[in-house]
Amino acid sequence: SSSPVQKNSEEEDRWVSELPRARFWDAMDICLWEGIWFEPGLVKPALNFKTNFEAQNEDILLASPPKTGTTWLKALCLCILKNQNIEDDEKDDVLTKENPHFNVQTIESMIYSTKPNPDDDLYTTRKDSPRLFHTHLPYNVLPDSIKQSDCKIVYITRNPKDTVVSLWHFFNSIFRTNQDPFPLEKAVECFCSGIHQYGPFFDHVLQYWGETQKRPNKILFLKYEDLKKDPKGEVKKLADFLGKPLIDEAEIDKVLWRCSLDRLKNLEVNKNGSILYGVPNSSYFRRGVVGDWKNYLSTDMEKLIDETAKLKFEGSGLHL
Ligand code: A3P
Repeated sequence: SSSPVQKNSEEEDRWVSELPRARFWDAMDICLWEGIWFEPGLVKPALNFKTNFEAQNEDILLASPPKTGTTWLKALCLCILKNQNIEDDEKDDVLTKENPHFNVQTIESMIYSTKPNPDDDLYTTRKDSPRLFHTHLPYNVLPDSIKQSDCKIVYITRNPKDTVVSLWHFFNSIFRTNQDPFPLEKAVECFCSGIHQYGPFFDHVLQYWGETQKRPNKILFLKYEDLKKDPKGEVKKLADFLGKPLIDEAEIDKVLWRCSLDRLKNLEVNKNGSILYGVPNSSYFRRGVVGDWKNYLSTDMEKLIDETAKLKFEGSGLHL
């Protein structure tokens, strides 16, 4: 599936409509571009990003598959970059003012933003340096200017079993508000077949994993479980990578507290409203427990995911 080189909008529409299609759950069509499944409405914005975005050396791009800790990573980076010189007073904390998905928008989804952030017109205006933004796009389709400049990338991913359970809750809350949940067994099969937004999950992870092996100073590769297990060590590493080292333990503790699930979940800006059409801000915050999959997955489902992961990750040195 090649990309149209700057065609007009109609040609692009036709090109998108001719991409291979499949059904995600029984909820929506998705289409295959560059080996990854996309919501059709996001292909053109993704292509626009790939073609027209000009990275600056100071830029920081966050990247992740859905439901792997994106919200937490956005909050942590905001806190590290914007909160360092504020008083303890909550009112100065950028996290109390807006949901993290407003302050760090996901580039290809901005068309669904209920509140476009004028500072986020990344194609025309220059934001404060460093510019901080996020994408769920796979590494393959990132703009060359991101790959070739000194722009830094922070990637986060998560154990596939917790990811699938988190996805299942999330899409049930969006697509099936007044219905029974989608059968979990089918959701697991769908995840393992790779036919879901930004899937296959395993390929998404492997693309960034491969790159971080080659260029560890360019891409910081984080795991949700590591952040849970050694929050101080991981946040220190993140702050160092962002060029804003956290000097003492008290500072690290403050960042962790400000970005904790319990605190964020209970802030007014996150209890109410919606930054993306159809997605309540509250739906980004659930339990945040490592191993929550044990409360949901049958042995067969567990096996299917483990075997898929084993096949995909074999020889890569990656364990999730
Ligand atoms: P669970 O569904 O397992 O609870 P994403 O932000 O990529 O959509 O991922 C959502 C997952 O991250 C959810 O996992 C959610 O509860 C968890 N999460 C959200 N904010 C968090 C935070 N501040 N700390 C830890 N986990 C968080």
